[in-house]
Amino acid sequence: MTTTSTASEDSSRLAQFEARIAADESIEPKDWMPERYRKQLIRMMAQHAHSEVVGMLPEGNWITRAPTLRRKMVLLAKVQDEAGHGLYIYCGTETLGVDRHDLVQELLDGKAKYSSIFNYPTLTWADIGAIGWLVDGAAIVNQTMLAKASFGPYARAMVRICKEENFHKRQGYEIMATLARGTGAQRAMAQDALNRWWWPSLMMFGPHDKDSTNSDELMRWGIKRKSNDELRQRFVNMTIVQAQAIDLTVPDADLKYNEMTGDWETGPIDWDEFWRVVKGNGPCNKERLDARRKADADGAWVRAAASAYVEKHA
Ligand code: 3HC
Repeated sequence: MTTTSTASEDSSRLAQFEARIAADESIEPKDWMPERYRKQLIRMMAQHAHSEVVGMLPEGNWITRAPTLRRKMVLLAKVQDEAGHGLYIYCGTETLGVDRHDLVQELLDGKAKYSSIFNYPTLTWADIGAIGWLVDGAAIVNQTMLAKASFGPYARAMVRICKEENFHKRQGYEIMATLARGTGAQRAMAQDALNRWWWPSLMMFGPHDKDSTNSDELMRWGIKRKSNDELRQRFVNMTIVQAQAIDLTVPDADLKYNEMTGDWETGPIDWDEFWRVVKGNGPCNKERLDARRKADADGAWVRAAASAYVEKHA
């Protein structure tokens, strides 16, 4: 009666697994886990890793045009960090039995998602400030939560990544504060960047909870500890105060402070724009994938040489 015993065996294993989650235990790669748990982690972590690597492109665009040597050095360090974050998280997916080359191929084939925010252009130097302040700021809110995820390797990766993200956010906010205190043209540049990056940054947290297809399962199994809307609200509350501190205006005519809850309530997010960009029709989707495909092709000889070396010296 193997079928029944397998079913009853699995249901008792599932009960044990869920008791471990309830007891806030860390699930490690060699532990038994439901196939759905493993699949959800691979989906989320692959997308996260892709986002880190594609996220290098909009900022990389300004490395050769940074206004000072100091700004250039800081931006170089940040972009290098993002590459490391991507590799770190790809390693995390490999503890779940996938091969990173397969995940990267899915991205190159246009079959994998990455954060929609990286499909917007970086038109001025102020965009580098806005990305550090808003995009890395949003990522910190999200990743601080993920540092408590039930899957050990992912949570531990987030602890290290969040330390570097804090530097990323500070350097971005310093750029915005410097421009906001500068000439009229510099102030206008900073405000223009805030206008263009504000709403796509709110979209980084995903659809509203009622439309989030994955959140229930992710929260049941302790991968997500807070919902998309809870994290978005946390980000908004922090960032409005930071915008006010440097006299920049958040581009939302409906924004209002709720004295009762202490929350800043935003106007409606344009989810048509969100899905348009997620589905590949954003301002830079083609440019980003073309750049990733070229980088992969240009780097093929390095990969071949490295594996030949490993084979020869194995
Ligand atoms: N961009 C693209 N797709 C998105 C998205 C976004 N901002 N937000 C949601 N989606 C997709 C989801 O992937 C899902 O599609 P799928 O089922 O085909 O994968 C669909 O929209 C519905 O969204 P859900 O809310 O159900 O999806 P999740 O529960 O996975 O929540 C998430 C979305 C909050 C992004 C979550 O996946 C997450 O926390 N991921 C890990 C963190 C991450 O990926 N961050 C990306 C930014 S990394 C970064 O900014 C680097 C920094 O150094 C600059």
